[in-house]
Amino acid sequence: MTDYNNPKHILDSSSIKEGSVKWRSPSNIALIKYWGKHGNQLPNNASISFTLTNAYTETLISYKTRNTSTASGQINFFLDGKSREDFRDKIVKNFQKLDAIFPFLKQLDFTIHSHNSFPHSAGIASSASSMSALALCLCSMESYFFGTLQNIEDFRRKASYVARLMSGSASRSIFSKMALWGKTSADQDSSNEYAIPYEDKIHDVFKHFHDDILIVRKGEKSVSSRAGHQLMEDNIYAPVRYRDAEKKMVQLISALQKGDVTLVGKITESEALTLHALMMTSTPSYILMEPNTLILIQKVQNFRKETKTPLYFTLDAGPNLHLLYPDQYKESVKDFIKSELVQYCEDAFWIEDEVGDGPVQL
Ligand code: DP6
Repeated sequence: MTDYNNPKHILDSSSIKEGSVKWRSPSNIALIKYWGKHGNQLPNNASISFTLTNAYTETLISYKTRNTSTASGQINFFLDGKSREDFRDKIVKNFQKLDAIFPFLKQLDFTIHSHNSFPHSAGIASSASSMSALALCLCSMESYFFGTLQNIEDFRRKASYVARLMSGSASRSIFSKMALWGKTSADQDSSNEYAIPYEDKIHDVFKHFHDDILIVRKGEKSVSSRAGHQLMEDNIYAPVRYRDAEKKMVQLISALQKGDVTLVGKITESEALTLHALMMTSTPSYILMEPNTLILIQKVQNFRKETKTPLYFTLDAGPNLHLLYPDQYKESVKDFIKSELVQYCEDAFWIEDEVGDGPVQL
């Protein structure tokens, strides 16, 4: 077990600390999904994702030493310049969880400004990008105050660990191109506690993959991921699901290494539909796909058959369709989206994204 708790990381009370730190961190899209967890944010199966480029969160943390270290510090939170109590409350809870890892948090007051590159109402999960950005800021602060985490690999591993405690999928956003989170027989370096970089273990074709996101419905989803994970606890298919995820992971990793786009696409689609089947077989059961999601799936599958274009879809815990394909098909796929698919998107809205290089400090 990794132990990042460090009671010595307390600031010297005689010196006033004031400063700021800012990171941009991207969202990610999982090919094998994390769905079901146990203990302190540990996954029930391994997951693997593409790191995105255009869907990101920028977070600026300004901090100042408090006069007293007895009570917890104050936090103000702004999303796009607007004070947001709901997000602030989540951050307060997250900071409490991180108390033993970053004891200096109690000694500081914070003003946090966050901005998402995508409209908040777009129905895109923002926890991966926002929580990874926050984790990176906290690790940068530790590094600055105590001279730790100088090695980039140590820094990223800790950032991934901390991000995971706040939101599981956020652990994967720390790394360029692809990341794997969760113990699997397919990789001896894998861990339930943090994600590992996967860029060096995949064929080049996947390093330039596209992910265009068709927004079928904007707005908050009716059942949160948090509730969805919880419902897995009593899902009668859960044991089969975790065995199936492991089997798919072994096949997928081999296909990613070989550059087998067809097999990666097939496993990815099967995984997306499995995720939604698990929702439908939960008690109570629920459906997050919309009629237009199904129309789009059929159109994508027909297009693939007719044109032999390796265009595949995946879904997050929502109705929006992610279209995955190699760079060389970008013109024809984007033409197809504009002529045949946008009419099934809410307000004809879709987002062009692609595999990216991971977070940057600003
Ligand atoms: C369907 O990471 O949002 O997107 O750990 O409770 O914050 P928490 O859950 P979250 O779950 C993401 C689920 C998913 C699949 C995935 O990204 O692997």
